[in-house]
Amino acid sequence: MTQSQNISPDQGLEAKDQAAAAAATAAGSEPSQDKEVLLSLKGLCKYFPIKSGLLNHKTSYLKAVDNLTLDIHKGECFGLVGESGCGKTTLGKMIAGLYKPTAGEILYNGTNLGALTRNERRKYSRDIQMIFQDPYSSLNPRMTVEEIISEPMVVNKTHHGAEIGKRVEYLLECVGLAKTYKSRYPHEFSGGQRQRIGIARALAVSPRLIVCDEAVSALDVSIQAQILNLLDDLKSEFGLTYLFIAHGLAAVKHISDRIGVMYLGSLVEVAPKEAIYDNPLHPYTQSLISAIPIIDPSKRKDRILLKGDLPSPIDPPAGCRFNSRCFVEDCPHKQEQQILVPMGKHLIACKHVSDGGCTKEAAAAAAASARASA
Ligand SMILES: Nc1ncnc2c1ncn2[C@@H]1O[C@H](COP(=O)(O)OP(=O)(O)OP(=O)(O)O)[C@@H](O)[C@H]1O
Ligand code: SF4
Ligand SMILES: [Mg+2]
Repeated sequence: MTQSQNISPDQGLEAKDQAAAAAATAAGSEPSQDKEVLLSLKGLCKYFPIKSGLLNHKTSYLKAVDNLTLDIHKGECFGLVGESGCGKTTLGKMIAGLYKPTAGEILYNGTNLGALTRNERRKYSRDIQMIFQDPYSSLNPRMTVEEIISEPMVVNKTHHGAEIGKRVEYLLECVGLAKTYKSRYPHEFSGGQRQRIGIARALAVSPRLIVCDEAVSALDVSIQAQILNLLDDLKSEFGLTYLFIAHGLAAVKHISDRIGVMYLGSLVEVAPKEAIYDNPLHPYTQSLISAIPIIDPSKRKDRILLKGDLPSPIDPPAGCRFNSRCFVEDCPHKQEQQILVPMGKHLIACKHVSDGGCTKEAAAAAAASARASA
């Protein structure tokens, strides 16, 4: 028996739930069912072993990503949001091939990446690149800009000789930097310029999918807008697909086509952007939406305050993972494991909502009671 079978993420799910999960995967294509799926994640898990004692034995697992299923379409920007520690970067790293999943499948254009040998995987690793959060630490300070942008072309043997230098100049122009900058070092640039260099490096081997992990979070607000516009332009120009990771819903609003809300290693809601902002269904999404600052006082809504902190992924709550912080006091499904099921344009992992038990009025009442007790 394999390790992944020992710690099966499907434990406790009944056959009808598995069928609903399969239906949810299909419905993950909403609202753009006509679009081709580029990346399909099926029951994806990453469990980090926790070791302790004199002999450093594995005593438990930290479930950073747990049974996550999602389709990403060709040409879309999929925004992924969730609190710090909910597993966003771990998911991005598994997709980019930097972490091996504990269980589940990553299908890229229909090919199961986990079943490939290291050599076979190399061909696909070019197609999926990652842009990291911190433009200061993600660039090697001892390398010139030319060496940084050339490196993926040399490693992947995609370009040779003089064409590498020409492509570096072309990529610098694409990201709005002068080609004369190629002989400079990272410390000679501002944060926004460094992130542009990181983007040029990611583009070097002509990827099709880019995982942008908090790509603008470390930048000033005015520079964030410039980089978001640049990413948007490059997406159209090169036919790219993005998985755009951020902490909050405000950050992904402008760039995303669909949005996934992640909580404690799993998705709790997936929907087109407008559906998430105008009609959030899961109690967690409702609280995230209520936390977005609104400048117009006439449109301001009460903020739903969540109880406590994100529980430990080593010992997540039994049943519904959100139950320890949910504002619905009388939910009859707290002790049941929740899976994504289709509901209109949404996929949600909350049986109370999908059964019609938790309304916007309940959320408004929770907000009012949170305000009263504050
Ligand atoms: N290499 C690792 N070994 C052990 N635990 C890890 C490792 N990487 C991440 N974790 C744990 O996995 C969980 C998810 O981490 P991850 O970095 O994916 O969260 P995140 O959602 O990206 O958070 P943030 O928004 O702060 O970047 C955390 O509890 C983290 O401590
Ligand atoms: S199933 Fe119940 S406890 Fe869980 S999120 Fe929905 S309403 Fe809250
Ligand atoms: Mg992260």
